[in-house]
Amino acid sequence: MAIDSWILPQALPSAARAIHTRRWFKRSKTLQIGFCTFLLITGTKGKSPSFCQSGTEAVEGALKLARYVSGRSRFIGFLGGFHGRTMGSLAFTASKQTQQQGCATMPGVTHVPFPNTYRPLFAGEDQGQAVLNYIENGLFVSNVPASEVAAILVEPIQGEGGYLVPPDGFLAGLRQLCNRHGILLIFDEVQSGIGRTGKMFACQHWNVQPDIMTLAKGLGSGLPIGLVVAKKSIMQQWKSGAHANTYGGNPLCCAAALVTLDLIEREYAANAEKVGAYFMDRLRELQSRHQVIGEVRGKGLMIGMELVSDRASRNPCKFSCHTVITRAFHRGLLLLSCGQSTVRFMPPLMVSVAEVDEAMTLLEAALVEAMAQ
Ligand SMILES: Cc1ncc(COP(=O)(O)O)c(C=O)c1O
Repeated sequence: MAIDSWILPQALPSAARAIHTRRWFKRSKTLQIGFCTFLLITGTKGKSPSFCQSGTEAVEGALKLARYVSGRSRFIGFLGGFHGRTMGSLAFTASKQTQQQGCATMPGVTHVPFPNTYRPLFAGEDQGQAVLNYIENGLFVSNVPASEVAAILVEPIQGEGGYLVPPDGFLAGLRQLCNRHGILLIFDEVQSGIGRTGKMFACQHWNVQPDIMTLAKGLGSGLPIGLVVAKKSIMQQWKSGAHANTYGGNPLCCAAALVTLDLIEREYAANAEKVGAYFMDRLRELQSRHQVIGEVRGKGLMIGMELVSDRASRNPCKFSCHTVITRAFHRGLLLLSCGQSTVRFMPPLMVSVAEVDEAMTLLEAALVEAMAQ
């Protein structure tokens, strides 16, 4: 069972048909219009998209747009964030220092901690509010003038950094902070979007709207498509030709994305919510039997299981994480890590309860083997 895959096989026949079209341009336009219509339906009213090929390129577009419309040059990103590996996005990527090693990146980006309720960095109960206070009363007062900040770029649920779900109120607080200072809010939904968390976009769990959103990964069911979606009033400030690329919005990828969005809207977001809740329950059961599992967290089918050396210290146990993933691989279960010692589960959105049961059997066997080493 491939547990880390975005492929929805149903999307492929339609995508294949699209590439045979002779009237490429007309077809491309029709698909793009269909796409925009879909985005309008799925809660992105009044938004307009710019097409590209990947997540990192979507982030580059979002940053460029934010600088262009705000006339400001600085940005705020988050420690643990992952946004890609090209020069602009890399300046925000801060989940492992190897990503930046030997490569000085775009200046003007200041990182702040992402709220972590399991391993709090700040005093007090509300880690989300603590981070907001840190930005407002620390960073803006002593280091970065708020009036020079073009945008704050954040993953609504942090992916590579450890599948961290922010406390309720954090994204709404960020929205208010941005409004107060005329800063644009960019949500990078490249990993958390497109049905993954049980809703089309993760930010819908908290009813918070960004000014700009980036999408890719699951959007094309494995075909390369990325999107910058922004409020029309923002996107339309770009003059014609200011931002474009050769393959953006090509009919093949648009066809795959349209079918994907339709399937997710009709059944797979709901499946992610239902099967994700079951998966999380099963993992919590496993946690009750295995001390090494410190926390199980997530939303929908974006689930993390953090492994610790002991539950009192909550120290990350990288060795256990690596060994569990290796043992699981030898049993036919493909897993990935994130953060320092979190096993991430992001199966295809059509995964069934029976397949989760099969995965759980393989996972527990791998866990037992790893603990015996
Ligand atoms: C949140 C987020 N943004 C951006 C990216 C970069 O996407 P890509 O690999 O398509 O460039 C990733 C990739 O993992 C991601 O998780």
